[in-house]
Amino acid sequence: MDIEKIRKDFPLIQNGEIAYLDSGATTQKPNQVIDAVEEFYKKYNANPHRGAYSLSVEATRLYEETREKIARFINASKPEEIIFSKNATESLNLLAYSYGVENLKKDDEVVISIMEHHSNLVPWQKVTKQTDSKLKYMYINEQFELTKEEIESKITDKTKIVGITHISNVLGTINPVKEIIEYAHKKGAIVIVDASQSIPHMKIDVKDLDADFLVFSGHKMLAPLGVGVLYGKKEILDKMTPFLMGGDMIEYVYEQETSFAPLPNKFEAGTQNVEGVVGLGAAIDYIEKLGYDKIQEIDKELTDYAIHKLSNLDYVNLYVTANRKNHSSVISFNMKGVHPHDVASILDSHKVAVRSGNHCAQPLMRYLETDSTCRASLYFYNTKEDIDRLVQAIEKTYKMFEKYINK
Ligand code: ALA
Repeated sequence: MDIEKIRKDFPLIQNGEIAYLDSGATTQKPNQVIDAVEEFYKKYNANPHRGAYSLSVEATRLYEETREKIARFINASKPEEIIFSKNATESLNLLAYSYGVENLKKDDEVVISIMEHHSNLVPWQKVTKQTDSKLKYMYINEQFELTKEEIESKITDKTKIVGITHISNVLGTINPVKEIIEYAHKKGAIVIVDASQSIPHMKIDVKDLDADFLVFSGHKMLAPLGVGVLYGKKEILDKMTPFLMGGDMIEYVYEQETSFAPLPNKFEAGTQNVEGVVGLGAAIDYIEKLGYDKIQEIDKELTDYAIHKLSNLDYVNLYVTANRKNHSSVISFNMKGVHPHDVASILDSHKVAVRSGNHCAQPLMRYLETDSTCRASLYFYNTKEDIDRLVQAIEKTYKMFEKYINK
């Protein structure tokens, strides 16, 4: 499929007005996803699992078929290993408050990386304090990578839980999650993989990774906002207590006691985001039709081009590893002497959309000795022209500030 054809699918960017370079925050949505959501409301809207009438049965079918589709998509063994949530953050909170609180004891250790998004960090601070266990960090080297030595010195016999982002939302570093999982399992720990930044770009196979848990948000992979996934191995999920209590997650409720429904319902209290789930199903269809090979080919070409162009600007600092094999399509940068928020605002006036700030990763920012960065994050619907516009806008921004910076 050529790029012109791809861009026609994305109504918000097809006219080329905006160079949208913030797909790490959320991707644009193709017509196929928007249409699937609209079709759900026009033809199938009812509350799944709660009605004997045909419309509710149809809504249930769509909801459960998407669960099966996701299980196939990430190679889970069973559909009930897929739990729908609001987003990766909610999935991670579920794990911290359910698995973490139930399994951590005094002096146990939770190991995460310094690259974690706050969603895979703040819940662990809370839960380790609550259980009197410890939170430890794996730090990165000058290439923004985790070394084998660092991984093996932090994950020990005391480690009970390892939380690791597959791809850093700030640095774009692709972490060696398979090796981390293998090592953590040898030490008797379970591993939670945050695949929010990876699943839009690369094939995820939970069996091959042997991940105990894996989470992601739909909205970063073409789906609507407000739907996410928690994958967990059935034998572990079965033993966990539900995180949210309410309708549809129960078996029997008495005045003082309740027994819970089997998987997956026991983790899906309350009416679910069915339009989001349907949209996520359509997003998976889109990604599968385009194919991860094609996505990676475009990602690589655009990222190489962007890194090459930005490296030529001697007033720009790039936060990317030199090892392209370990780097995705997220590019953080700073302009020497100019605050990232100022840079991003001026880029916006040139209709170039990048994120600026701490990217929900303040400990990482402190470790990098900065308080924020600008971040361009690319996806397959971007073009070299988008990157040229970014570079030209950066050049113009620098010209505005040059006389002050060089004083
Ligand atoms: N987690 C999203 C990002 O990194 C919002 O931009």
